[in-house]
Formats: sequence, C-alpha cells, structure tokens
Amino acid sequence: MKVRAILLGLVMAGLSAGAAAADPIVIKFSHVVATDTPKGKAAEKFKELAEQYTNGAVKVEVYANSTLYKDKEEMEALQLGAVQMLAPSLAKFGPLGVREFEAFDLPYMFDGYTALHKVTKGEVGQKLMAKLEPRGIKGLAYWDNGFKSLSANTPIRSPEDLKGKKMRIQSSKVIEEQMRELKALPQVMAFSETYQALQTGVVDGTENPHSNLYTQKMHEVQKHMTLTDHGYLGYAVITNKKFWDGLPAEVRSQLEKAMAESTDYANEIAKAENDKALEAVRASGKTEIYTPTEAERKAFIKALLPVHKKMESRVGAATIKSIYEATGFDPASF
Ligand code: LMR
Repeated sequence: MKVRAILLGLVMAGLSAGAAAADPIVIKFSHVVATDTPKGKAAEKFKELAEQYTNGAVKVEVYANSTLYKDKEEMEALQLGAVQMLAPSLAKFGPLGVREFEAFDLPYMFDGYTALHKVTKGEVGQKLMAKLEPRGIKGLAYWDNGFKSLSANTPIRSPEDLKGKKMRIQSSKVIEEQMRELKALPQVMAFSETYQALQTGVVDGTENPHSNLYTQKMHEVQKHMTLTDHGYLGYAVITNKKFWDGLPAEVRSQLEKAMAESTDYANEIAKAENDKALEAVRASGKTEIYTPTEAERKAFIKALLPVHKKMESRVGAATIKSIYEATGFDPASF
C-alpha cells in the first residue's frame, strides 16, 4: 500500500502546485500522537500562527494520531515530498542514518528539563540538527515531551522485575540496549500498534511519557507503572529541505517566526501536560502508580548506566561527551 499511497500524495501535490497562483502553499504536518499532547497541541499552534503570519498564503493541514502515516512511512513520505513537516521522536532517526540523536535516549542522561535545554537550546543541539541536512532534511526545532515511566501488568520495583518481559520500544538501538541491560526482550513497534499489542499480550510492557500513555489509553491495559524517569522523549521538527529552501523568502521567514513561537509554547506546556496526564491515570484507578525509593532508583541507575559506554560506538563517544559537558553530567558520580 504504502508506496502507492505516497505516490498518490505526490500526484495530488503536483496538481495543486499547478493550480491558480493564488492557491495557498499547503504544508501537510503528519504525526503519530493525539491532539491532546504536547506535540499535538504545538502542531495546532504552529498551524494557527503560520496561517496568521502569512495571511493565509500558507495552509497547514495537521494529521494527528497516525491518520496519514505511521512511524516508518512518515519518514519516507517526507523524503519523497508527500508531506512537508513531521516531528518524530529523537529515537526514530536511526533508519535515516542519523544515529547521534539516539544519545538523547541514553538512560539517566538528563536529570530534568533544565539539563536537557542546555543541549537542545545550545550549540550541541544545533550541531546535531545539522546532521540531517545531507539527508535532504532540514531540522527546524526541538520540541519537548517528557521523561518516561516503565509499565507492565506486574509490579516493577527493581531491574530484575523486567527480566524476560517483552517490552515495546521505539526504533532506537540505545533503547534496545537499555532493555537488554534489564534482561527484557525489546520489540520495536510502531506507536500506533502499541495499545493493541499490550491489550492482546503480544508485548507485556512498555515505556512512555505520561501524556502518550494516557492519550492512547495504554493505562487501561497496564496494571502497573513505576515513575522511573529513566529517559527522555522529545522531538525534532523537520521539513523537506528542498521544499523549505524553495519557499518565497518572505513566507519562510514568517514560518520561522511561527515555528519559534510554537517551540516556546511546546516547551512551556510539556511538563504540565505530562503532570496532568499522570493525575488522570491515577484518577482512572486502572494503573497502580509506584514511586521508587531512593535505593530502588539507585539500583535502576546502576543497572542502566553501562548503556552509555556500550553505545559509544553507536552514537559517537564525542557526541556523548559533548552532552556531558553541556549538562555537567558526570557518570563517575554515581
Ligand atoms: C513513541 O513511539 O512511543 C513516541 O515516539 C510517539 C511520539 O511521537 O511521541
């Protein structure tokens, strides 16, 4: 299907480009989460601002919840020009050949948004973003989601509790190694397929920032969740470079302004949205939420820190070092 659907998209885009000059420039913005999440809300904010700042010269069509493309297809669609904008998580760039982003997946790499922003709002973040360009992709911004919790149908108090569990993961080799370190069995799966896989027992558990867990109703099929905060999940907003460079300069600068403001918005609401989702999960009574003790937290850190060293060859020792330097993280202090 996929290639046919993408080709059809291209034909449609070609037809609209050939229509009257006054036709708006259409930006299809595809993503895989619900509208009521940090990314979903920020995409809507970008639409609103982009259309306003360009006086309607640009029309943004946001397709949420994998309604247009799923994880893997959306990357292909962007490169082919069938969609113009995406915001995949930083864990999903490996298949494109940009492995350095997986450094963001390293467990316990960031001890909160402040540390994270030293990277995403700084020079290191810019350098990593530039790695997309040889792939025909322009990185426009980093958007936050949040810190992940582990969930399953059995309690998770210690790393040993994950042993032998089939865990759904995103397509990141770093996350795969993280799960292997816990002796779990990682299974890469599209986000859109996760709920059903949990419900039917194809996988036993997963990891999510709370807004993703809640809006996909995964808490309804996961009896236990532990607030491990063991890793970060956030996004690179990307566009097709040829499309972007081909825009009239005035339109592009208005879109840059809209993007800068929606980025501030995304990063301002991310924490509150995740806190709100956690409270909603709690209120649902369907999932027991466990806060690890200090000793339990240390046991997870101890079990997972070796992933940093092991993944040097994957994401680059220099990339890891540059992040440590930007945030002040010192693995030896644990
Ligand atoms: C996931 O696949 O779990 C996330 O990347 C989904 C998303 O876009 O937040």
